[in-house]
Amino acid sequence: MTPDSYEKGIKRILINENEIRMKISEAGKYIDSLYDGRPILLVGILKGCFVFLADLARAVSVPCEVAFMAAQSYYSGTDSSGSVDITMDLKQDVSGYHVIIAEDIIDTGRTLSKIFRMIKERSPLSLRVITLLDKPERRAVDFKADVSLFTIEDVFVVGYGLDCGEYYHNLPYIAEFNEEIIN
Ligand code: IMP
Ligand code: MG
Repeated sequence: MTPDSYEKGIKRILINENEIRMKISEAGKYIDSLYDGRPILLVGILKGCFVFLADLARAVSVPCEVAFMAAQSYYSGTDSSGSVDITMDLKQDVSGYHVIIAEDIIDTGRTLSKIFRMIKERSPLSLRVITLLDKPERRAVDFKADVSLFTIEDVFVVGYGLDCGEYYHNLPYIAEFNEEIIN
């Protein structure tokens, strides 16, 4: 990746920092109202969740633990192949927890439907899903988050945790990726 193609990869800003900040603040208040002082376990799905989870955790006031799982969905460029591997599992027994899974984006729905089923089988006190982004047009398996901060059209996005080939995770905003730089 040259500096020039890196810049060209950012086609346009889709969601700016301020819009993200406002939605996360609302989501934090909503979580506080749902759990009403009860402790929660926020489970982030690595790597894409790391920026969102850091901000979301600081937007809630209920007692909050954080934990991580990692999933790998096989991509060639920007296209999903269908199979999902869980490459890192939770260390704790979730049966005593109100669990909220925090994901960066629901695209085909395969990753979250697999992770949701896995955690559900371990009988948490309750289980909800919050996603930063939702791309409903791309759904291959039926899956709906309890809370979705932004619904977006079918474009590949980067930034605020989301990457393309490991780049752009650290953009402070969400941008449409310019697929011409890899094609
Ligand atoms: P799934 O297709 O719903 O299983 O989505 C799996 C994962 O694909 C997400 O957690 C992201 O890491 C990645 N992904 C899906 N769409 C995008 C995108 O537009 N940009 C970056 N990553 C994406
Ligand atoms: Mg992800």
